[in-house]
Amino acid sequence: MQQTVTPAMGPLEGTVRLPGDKSISHRYAMLAAAAEGVSTIANYSSGADCHSTLRCLRGVGVPVTVEGREVRIEGRGLEWTAPEEDLDAGNSGSTIRMLAGLLAGQRFTSRLVGDESLSRRPMQRIMVPLAQMGAAITARDGKFPPIEITGGELRPVEYAMPVASAQVKSCVLLAGLHAEGVTTVREPAPTRDHTEVALKEFGAEVERGAGTVSVRGRARLEGRELAVPGDLSSAAFFLVAAAIVPGSSVILHQVGLNPTRATLIDFLLQMGVEVKILEMAMRNGEPVGDLMVRGSALRGGVIEGKLAAALIDEIPVLAVLGAVSEGGLTVRDAAELRVKETDRIETVAENLRRMGAEVDTYEDGFRVEGRQALTGAVVDSHGDHRIAMAAAVAALRATGPVAIENAEAASVSFPEFWDTLASIRG
Ligand code: S3P
Repeated sequence: MQQTVTPAMGPLEGTVRLPGDKSISHRYAMLAAAAEGVSTIANYSSGADCHSTLRCLRGVGVPVTVEGREVRIEGRGLEWTAPEEDLDAGNSGSTIRMLAGLLAGQRFTSRLVGDESLSRRPMQRIMVPLAQMGAAITARDGKFPPIEITGGELRPVEYAMPVASAQVKSCVLLAGLHAEGVTTVREPAPTRDHTEVALKEFGAEVERGAGTVSVRGRARLEGRELAVPGDLSSAAFFLVAAAIVPGSSVILHQVGLNPTRATLIDFLLQMGVEVKILEMAMRNGEPVGDLMVRGSALRGGVIEGKLAAALIDEIPVLAVLGAVSEGGLTVRDAAELRVKETDRIETVAENLRRMGAEVDTYEDGFRVEGRQALTGAVVDSHGDHRIAMAAAVAALRATGPVAIENAEAASVSFPEFWDTLASIRG
């Protein structure tokens, strides 16, 4: 599908409701499946990725019903049923990597497959620790999906991750549920901690140290009533959209503000974005609040070191913010961008260049100059949801229409994105 987005002719105004947080939805579904008893999950992400997780859970014998945004899962405890078919993770790295942790403890063989993009993404990062724990895993060319997991008795490990990845951390902790004793993960930089928070919520014993997190295995998890906060990474597109269109004023309803994600808000403030948290509450151990954002005068910024890991999903749209800011945006220490749904260093640079911006790329990041006059163009999401939505935001400040090829990719995390954007355009 090609979607054309015309430049904003006036301020963006209104209230935006976001899909349920993608990261939290995956975790609640997987833990609900591994718990005893029924869980209900309100505001479950409408994104295709989170529905891939539900499809895989059904494949291992977990009863799942979906009614609109509410999901009901009958937990099967830690022991699941051997799948009759391949488990299809679709486009979802979170599904394949995190679910692998729970499959590694099963007494059967399962095969996880994905779409073309997922089939190019690295899996050794989970294969190494799961093999240390005792699972047998093979992959195409030793590293890419499909992956085949023969699980069984697992032993606890202490695993120091070479890359800062919440998916890997979660995979090992979830496998740790099957191991007798305490499994510990050490991370080189802080990553989102939704798994830790959710494990506690389901009744597991979790301990945190400086840069480490541990879980005690053979825990009995209990089904819960849960509600997923709005997705801050989806909110990011509207935070940037409102910031770059003069005179805008947008409210984002009930957004997840977990500190490991809300670094985004601090960074936007540093860039000069007028963003405010209106009210905060706690829900299932996760902070939630309304956000208000206005059209703003923008400074430049630098994302490097630990900040790169904390903002990894928002970098495509922050590049747009950088392009229209006074000082531009430099991103370093973000080589992980190269192994996302697309090589996001190349796809971000390609689309901004097609719109006339000056962008330099490096092995681990890019530099986009500020005060760029963006022009109309034909750009391409290359099948990457965040690249499609970032392009739509950039179009708001272009001098002509921007046609986005493969725009349907937005549905991976945010099927309502195009309607939501239209609704604040007056
Ligand atoms: C996620 C972790 C991040 C992020 C992804 C979701 C998660 O990936 O990019 O969108 O839910 O744990 P990595 O673990 O590969 O950094």
